[in-house]
Amino acid sequence: MKELKDIKNILIIGSGTLGLRIALANALNGYKVTIYDIREEAFEQAKRIQGDLIKMLIKAGTISENDSEKALQNQSFTTDAKLAASDTDLVSESVTEDLELKKKVWAQFGKLCPEKTIFTTNTSSLLPSKYAEATGRPERFCALHFHDVFYANVVDIMPNPQTEPWIIDLLKAYGESIQQTVVIMKRESPGYIFNAMLISVLGAAGALVTFDVASIEDVDRSWMGNFKMLSGPFGILDEIGLDTAWHIVHVFKDEKSKRFSKLLDSYIQQGKLGRKVGEGFYKYPKPRFNDEDFIKG
Ligand SMILES: NC(=O)c1ccc[n+]([C@@H]2O[C@H](COP(=O)([O-])OP(=O)(O)OC[C@H]3O[C@@H](n4cnc5c(N)ncnc54)[C@H](O)[C@@H]3O)[C@@H](O)[C@H]2O)c1
Repeated sequence: MKELKDIKNILIIGSGTLGLRIALANALNGYKVTIYDIREEAFEQAKRIQGDLIKMLIKAGTISENDSEKALQNQSFTTDAKLAASDTDLVSESVTEDLELKKKVWAQFGKLCPEKTIFTTNTSSLLPSKYAEATGRPERFCALHFHDVFYANVVDIMPNPQTEPWIIDLLKAYGESIQQTVVIMKRESPGYIFNAMLISVLGAAGALVTFDVASIEDVDRSWMGNFKMLSGPFGILDEIGLDTAWHIVHVFKDEKSKRFSKLLDSYIQQGKLGRKVGEGFYKYPKPRFNDEDFIKG
């Protein structure tokens, strides 16, 4: 199988935050999608969130009621791994971010999937070459990393050293077929493209505050005023979740990262995890940076 027309059946492994979104994007674009998870209850949550996403897409005029009905008919949910794998052309794996779990899941599906299947992983922070061998066919294995699928519709293609070049071409065509902007990495590198840039900006913003050069508000004001953006680095951190940011930053041992992780932790200890709990660096639903006079100072 070397052409896009040969890809019809998609298997999504993991029915969580990202799996349900990738599944819906595939179903909306005419693919037959099987969603596999070990937890039945994950399916109810996925269907509910997909329902909300569909309403949002209809409201925005991106899809019609008819499109959404057809899409839902294209999807099926199962906890039966053998059935899920039986006729799959392409796997998109979005299980919990844990290396040992990914190795286990890929060893399982590497054995269950037919020879024709192409394997992709959506890991955010693990290097796929660390579990490529577990698939049993690393030459057909490649990272295909989504952002939020519908609003931030960019995918990174990141081959591991063994990925065959034709897989990259095919994944590019496939990514475009589900309405994504495709960016291709020449080699494995932590954080892919956007996240690697974002981490640098957020790290610089953290240093300006923790070395007492500028206030949180002025860092955001500067970013927003220069780029005409709706939020600045600390508003973005609230969106990501301060706990998630801390998990990424605290592993680095340089002085800048240590100070930044201490700043994040001081908010986390007060339960201020960001927008998801109503407060982080700012209070929601009406953060100060949304005020008309914020940019003026
Ligand atoms: N959340 C994000 O913004 C985001 C963005 C890009 C990439 N990712 C990546 O996507 C992957 C999933 O993240 P998420 O946020 O969707 O996590 P999540 O916790 O929302 O979902 C993970 C799902 O995996 C399932 N799972 C666990 N063990 C399994 C197994 N053995 N077999 C099948 N399913 C299993 C869980 O039941 C759960 O439903 C991670 O690798 C993460 O790094 C996440």
